[in-house]
Amino acid sequence: MKTFEYILIKSACIIGLMLHISSSTLDAQINKKTHLALTPPMGWNSWNTFRCDGLNEQLVKDMADIISTNGMKEAGYVFVNLDDCWQIGRYPDGRIMIDSARFPSGIKALADYVHSKGLKLGIYSDAGLMTCAKKPGSFSYEDIDAQTYAEWGVDYLKYDFCNLPMTLNQSPENKETAPVIRTAMKGPPNYTAQQIYLPMAEALGKVDRDIVFSVCNWGVQEPWKWAGDISHLWRTTPDIRPYFKGFSVKYLYFMSIMEIVNRTHNDSLHLYAAPGRWNDPDMLEVGNGKLTYDENVAHFSMWSMMAAPLLAGNDLRNMSPEVLKILTNKAVIAVDQDTLGKQGYKVSEIDGVQIWLKPLSGSRWAVCFLNPKGKKSITTDWQFLKSAETFQAKDVWQDVELKTNAASTIEIPKHGVRLFVLER
Ligand code: GAL
Repeated sequence: MKTFEYILIKSACIIGLMLHISSSTLDAQINKKTHLALTPPMGWNSWNTFRCDGLNEQLVKDMADIISTNGMKEAGYVFVNLDDCWQIGRYPDGRIMIDSARFPSGIKALADYVHSKGLKLGIYSDAGLMTCAKKPGSFSYEDIDAQTYAEWGVDYLKYDFCNLPMTLNQSPENKETAPVIRTAMKGPPNYTAQQIYLPMAEALGKVDRDIVFSVCNWGVQEPWKWAGDISHLWRTTPDIRPYFKGFSVKYLYFMSIMEIVNRTHNDSLHLYAAPGRWNDPDMLEVGNGKLTYDENVAHFSMWSMMAAPLLAGNDLRNMSPEVLKILTNKAVIAVDQDTLGKQGYKVSEIDGVQIWLKPLSGSRWAVCFLNPKGKKSITTDWQFLKSAETFQAKDVWQDVELKTNAASTIEIPKHGVRLFVLER
């Protein structure tokens, strides 16, 4: 193409993009469906185990079959979520094209199938031109995509942040907070992360279907401060990986379980969670990688303390009875799903053991002792409760009951937790 033509086309695209975003930001009518996700969403997502290549229709149906028969549905797991790679292109009229080699019956038929099991279907797209796996994104197709999802019977949308056709406004009040941005950052300048999410929030507000909106921008520009008004949950960190403490090399895009827990504490994220607005420290790795029993228990317990979405990310077809037992521990799930909707926070530390507290409905508390190091025995006087009352503390993983009116010695396994529910 001649240089002159190229410049003309490029300028036209840029002006089009600027008009597109500014028309949706200046007078955005966000009609957030506030009755959704009053407790953190629970379900399964394909990404952590199957990535791009492993995703297909049969896999999703298998997962729906399993969740509806193995006790997970009764425990509260309801969403069956496709992640990246179900989409392959666009038709001339702008409608998204399903990868028919992977999904020969289409997404509507899949949604019908998942619904027939009493479950809900989730889907994935991206605010940019392409998803992180370079499939078509929803940029400038927000309305038609939201409408299509609604027609198909989709119940949940995870919305990513790759390949944006604009740069981020990084003025001091919008400063970059994630360690790294995987985004193109070319094109018109100065859009905040919030503005980039508005067109889809607006589009979802217009459709006649309840679709939970999950912002996935890895914590860029502190979504906990702005995403609650336009979505139901927002990612707070880069992607989780199935490691408890860290990696032998430093990855920029990935975080371990303890790195996510520590970031949650350092950024005081509990201040922003409430029914219909949740911090999302990413999907579960329970049962993945080489996580030990105690690490899986600690991961699941801490995600419940953090009122996180509980989206299993393992291969449910090959899960051990031990992993299923962890994922379906009703007392732990009740901590996560408590209707008060408060997120837990770190109150104290004894000899490297972190003590987290989560207010529960009925004037109860959850208390979690998290041990990132080798096996420990600590003694606590329960003073961190700042209460003159005596509570019965029931361990939700083992048959142990303590009283808080006297000092208690608590043994915590290496990389493990002891999680108690306290009632009067
Ligand atoms: C990342 C996202 C992951 C997964 C992946 C798909 O940006 O954080 O959870 O969705 O994209 O390409």
